[in-house]
Amino acid sequence: MDLPTGIEPPLPQRAEGYGAIHTRERQFTRIFTTMYGQKHRARSRLPVKTRAVRIHEPGGPEALRLDDIRVPDPGATQVRIAQRAVGLNFLDTYQRRGLFPSPALPCVVGFEGAGVVEAVGGAVRGLEEGDRVAYACAPPGAYAGLRLIAADALVRLPDAIDFEQAAAAMLKGMTAEYLVHGSGKVQPGDAVLVTAAAGGTGLLLCQWLAHRGSTVIGCVGDEAKRALAEAHGCRHAIDYRREDVAARVAELTGGEGLAVAYDSVGRDTARASVACLRPGGTLVLYGSASGAVPQSVLAEAAAKSLAVVRPGLFEENAAPAALQARAEALFAVLEEGAVAVHVGRRYPLAEAAEAHRDLEARRTTGQSVLLPA
Ligand SMILES: NC(=O)c1ccc[n+]([C@@H]2O[C@H](COP(=O)([O-])OP(=O)(O)OC[C@H]3O[C@@H](n4cnc5c(N)ncnc54)[C@H](OP(=O)(O)O)[C@@H]3O)[C@@H](O)[C@H]2O)c1
Repeated sequence: MDLPTGIEPPLPQRAEGYGAIHTRERQFTRIFTTMYGQKHRARSRLPVKTRAVRIHEPGGPEALRLDDIRVPDPGATQVRIAQRAVGLNFLDTYQRRGLFPSPALPCVVGFEGAGVVEAVGGAVRGLEEGDRVAYACAPPGAYAGLRLIAADALVRLPDAIDFEQAAAAMLKGMTAEYLVHGSGKVQPGDAVLVTAAAGGTGLLLCQWLAHRGSTVIGCVGDEAKRALAEAHGCRHAIDYRREDVAARVAELTGGEGLAVAYDSVGRDTARASVACLRPGGTLVLYGSASGAVPQSVLAEAAAKSLAVVRPGLFEENAAPAALQARAEALFAVLEEGAVAVHVGRRYPLAEAAEAHRDLEARRTTGQSVLLPA
């Protein structure tokens, strides 16, 4: 198994981090259930049956099992959602393989979805049955028809954003938001690199960067992806399976190099990303689809005095106010048409294993969604 090593965040730390969040959520639920339990219990019904895709053990795509499960009434601070669309993310494949902690096994997979509130815990304020909502957060639990979720992980959907758009864009689009406005410290007019430019996060990031005035150079895995990237914000696209990326960037920038490289591929591309940057530039390592970045890349970065950043959405969104502000910024660029969602594939929820195979074999473009119904 291709385990993240090197400068990939150490897994035990993440396990403790998300475990702690989960435990805190349970503690709050207990406290609020004690305080508000009467009202809630009076309304409680029998658990509702739904279909969910779970892992019983980590493994390959075949580890994804379609199970009938029962979802109880929400705890005091929770909401139950009838999900209309679920987002497919590379992160889901890490969870499936056991590289991202599942709270307990068997565990429902996935981190992103959109739907309608159908039951509300007694201590929840500001949400009611029938509200259209979306989320992108840990702990996992998205691959299901119905799910329970902490109310403060939800954002309300504007009328103009449909469920598919929301499920496709919440995780990847909020990531693009903080990458554009935070991690990279990119300035209008800067030339920047984006790996996997035709991918789920890449395609949103390229458009947002271009909207902010960057000259975006995208790296893509084939000719069809080149055309897609160039239609979504990339001034130039480089096929990194066939072309020398550093040489091509030097040519495109007159030898000056780039201000920022956004690298989501990791092992196979980080060295070239460093080579493309100008001295003092910023290397944003936000993913590792090909495997962990080799340690030697840090020495190469030091030789150019680069800033190296390794950010994560869930940490960026830890404060509820940050989540709401970031989601609003995303909805604003989607509504004004500056950034467009491109749903490349729609899979029935029952075909989640096929979706994972396609994602890991580099066969998907843009964002993909799983449809529960
Ligand atoms: N830190 C964060 O906050 C954050 C948030 C979102 C995503 N991410 C990370 O960003 C990465 C991309 O996520 P995503 O959901 O948007 O996926 P994605 O980009 O839609 O899919 C991965 C893409 O990576 C490229 N790739 C290159 N080498 C690959 C390999 N050996 N195996 C698989 N793919 C390879 C492929 O595009 P080409 O064929 O064009 O190369 C592929 O389509 C993941 O590592 C994910 O965990 C991080």
